Amino acid sequence: MISLETLAGGARGGTLYGIGVGPGDVRYMTLRAAGLVRAVDVVAFFAKKGLQGNARRIVAPLMAAGRSELRFEYPVTEEIPTEHADYQAQIGGFYREMAPAISAELGAGRSVGLLAEGDPFFYGSFMHMWRRLSAEFPVEVVPGVTGMSGCWTRANLPITWGNDTLAVLPGTLEEDTLTERLRLTDAAVIMKVGRNLAKVRRAVERAGLLARAVYVERGTMDDERILPLAECVEGRGAYFAMVLIPGEGRRL
Ligand SMILES: C[S@@+](CC[C@H](N)C(=O)[O-])C[C@H]1O[C@@H](n2cnc3c(N)ncnc32)[C@H](O)[C@@H]1O
Repeated sequence: MISLETLAGGARGGTLYGIGVGPGDVRYMTLRAAGLVRAVDVVAFFAKKGLQGNARRIVAPLMAAGRSELRFEYPVTEEIPTEHADYQAQIGGFYREMAPAISAELGAGRSVGLLAEGDPFFYGSFMHMWRRLSAEFPVEVVPGVTGMSGCWTRANLPITWGNDTLAVLPGTLEEDTLTERLRLTDAAVIMKVGRNLAKVRRAVERAGLLARAVYVERGTMDDERILPLAECVEGRGAYFAMVLIPGEGRRL
């Protein structure tokens, strides 16, 4: 029988790894992701101001003491709306400063694993490093179980049946746009709910979908919360929260 270490494979010096760490429960990581978290020279991750970092928390059971780590603290997350010029200036500057810090490690021949919640290529901050560094250094992206997949599984909600179309919509869209897009789809996942929760609930209600909508906060994590959106009356949700609207397509 082949060992898990052999199956997972190792890390090459000077390579950037975008490691999808899944939706929250460490057991939902892929073998390749878990192997790389152990094998890379430097584990890099994003964190909200003053917090440990959600991706870093997910991989904690895989991290031995004394590992080399690079922590990148977002200057801003939900305090300013994403479409605001200040948000874009601050986050743009943050990514511009982050890229040389990672390239210094790669240039010195070390492998860097940059952790990404869920899948790195699905609304992932990792993509901003991939864009800046992939022309100069080898990059391997390790896919992950997405947050939405973890959430619909935990909510026990098959999301698409038969010919259902699925729309993935950011809750940061304007209310009218969100409502319009919801009216066009059979099933929907609304991401980035957080500070947009009240607006998202209004859009779902206007689209006539409130009875089917489920709110999932921190899906697959220890403090997960799942309830019908109609019963979720607070004005603001958690940062890790989404709304799921399952399709009603063909049941055989
Ligand atoms: C910047 S996106 C990152 C998405 C991630 N790359 C993925 O594959 O799911 C962050 C948004 O993903 C959603 N999300 C990710 N994981 C989640 C989880 N475990 N529970 C609830 N929402 C989650 C939330 O809507 C959050 O605002």
